[in-house]
Amino acid sequence: MATIIIDGQNYDLPEGAKFNAIQAARHFGIEIPYYCWHPALSVVANCRMCEIEVGSKDASGEIKMLPRLTPGCQTPVRDGTVLVTDSVKVLEHRKNIMELLLINHPLDCPVCDQAGECGLQDYSYSHGRAEHRFVEERNVKPRKEVSDLIVLNTDRCIMCTRCVRFTREITGTAELQVMRRGDHGEIAIFPDHPLDNPLAGNVVDLCPVGALLDKDFLHNQRVWFLSKHDTICTGCSTGCNISSEENAGKVWRHKPRHNPYVNDYWICDEGRYGYKSANAPDLLAGSYILDGGDHHGATSDRFFKRLNEDLTHRILDKQSVLAIFSPFLSVEEAFSAASWVKHLTNRNTMALGPVSVLGQDQTYSPDKLTGRSGDTSFLVPRPFTISAEKSPNKAGVSFVINHFQGSNVVSFEDALKLVPSNPIVIVFGGSPNSDWITPEQSAEIRKAERVILFDTTINVLADAADYVAGMATFAEKAGSYVNRDNRLQHFDAALPLRDGVWTLLDILAILRGVGRSPIESRTILAEAAEKILALAKAVGGQVPEFGLNLTGQDALIPDAGFQDDWTMASLAKA
Ligand code: SF4
Ligand code: SF4
Ligand code: FES
Repeated sequence: MATIIIDGQNYDLPEGAKFNAIQAARHFGIEIPYYCWHPALSVVANCRMCEIEVGSKDASGEIKMLPRLTPGCQTPVRDGTVLVTDSVKVLEHRKNIMELLLINHPLDCPVCDQAGECGLQDYSYSHGRAEHRFVEERNVKPRKEVSDLIVLNTDRCIMCTRCVRFTREITGTAELQVMRRGDHGEIAIFPDHPLDNPLAGNVVDLCPVGALLDKDFLHNQRVWFLSKHDTICTGCSTGCNISSEENAGKVWRHKPRHNPYVNDYWICDEGRYGYKSANAPDLLAGSYILDGGDHHGATSDRFFKRLNEDLTHRILDKQSVLAIFSPFLSVEEAFSAASWVKHLTNRNTMALGPVSVLGQDQTYSPDKLTGRSGDTSFLVPRPFTISAEKSPNKAGVSFVINHFQGSNVVSFEDALKLVPSNPIVIVFGGSPNSDWITPEQSAEIRKAERVILFDTTINVLADAADYVAGMATFAEKAGSYVNRDNRLQHFDAALPLRDGVWTLLDILAILRGVGRSPIESRTILAEAAEKILALAKAVGGQVPEFGLNLTGQDALIPDAGFQDDWTMASLAKA
């Protein structure tokens, strides 16, 4: 086992770990501050914030230290490595670096969107010096529009080049460049070549200061008012891990959460701005019954009573049910919905709702060397894919239907052909897009004697159905999805439920007569895992941080979980 010494204390490295000094120190709860280094980018060691004293201990026990401070980001640790992170020399050096980085930096904190999550603010406080000795004229650089969505405040930039390396090493698009040198250096785009690749928004997350900012979020909220919720993007079947950040009943932004098995540190712009449908004005806000050609709002009591009576009467009359399950349902919703349909009648057919496929998968697979300018010896490149399949849970819903149906999953197109032989059609929706169903498809479904819709948006089928119940959107519910690689991932609710709206789990519990206490998604998942072989790994409804690989074994990634942020709070997770 490899042992290293940090600040005079011995630590055993985990098996297979390939850490630099920053990672190793954080692994043991010790902070080495950094700016330019990022675990998914090459090492350029240009900010000098992470410099520490480095040495080695030989077999005889003698310790030899290098004469100068050394960048921790560029220092691989191995058996016998000695790191000193808290000497007077190191602490004084950090103060000097902070002073240098702040020489030209404007005092913008009160108006800067990065305030509250800024690497300069945090490190000024913990590693800087209180006074500013620079009395020369400051070098003032311009504000630039680098795309329709991103603004670059060049005067706040510390030239760490993370953004430049991202466009070279991850997307391979290289829109960003360093222009000029030294004190006059600036990040820039070429004229008429904006930063508009599908992953462009990640440069805002990568920028440690308030230089690159998202215009969509600009001056909308102060970040300390936001509550963060761990959730999963529903934009496609990749299932990127995101933080959904809300305040005052609205989601204001999506940020990536690191998952080395799914999205690494990134999300695409489609997912980033997909939060808007959580606040959309066309959400179903209650329950409605079609009476005399018009929809009338109904209290939940009246709605459930009428629906139950109507269905009981029709089922006694031996009418059969066609049930359609959206690929936007969680595993738990699909399982509860299918259990209810089965409980209603054995004369049922279960089908998958429409699965939208747009173009082809777009995969960014950086290799170790191509396009990288810095040291790549620490890198483990991981590909990132934007899936063509634009729903989060086709796999999970299909597992459920397969279990109940005991045969192949009926597609939406085939389901429409089955409407004439099924007097009752029940649709469990959930897509954030009101155009998930076309007027023609809705007209086909409307041919049934009774159409019952549980959904989130006002859409053409909601205009036509006999019973319409508004249910929790993707942002208002908790549960799990199974992504394209058969990884089951848990997500939390980001928003409280709107008035008049229930989660589908609660609606189904009431319809089944189970009671009116809120239903925990984990309880349903535990039940599903007991009954459905494909979900068997989710024992007790437990899903680990990076999800459950349902069909295989995950490769060991020792640096998994390194959160790229600037505060000691991240150490608690490391
Ligand atoms: S814009 Fe931000 S990420 Fe890019 S070099 Fe400047 S500080 Fe670094
Ligand atoms: S790749 Fe798919 S899951 Fe990931 S952020 Fe984009 S839309 Fe969302
Ligand atoms: S993080 Fe090591 S030199 Fe910038």
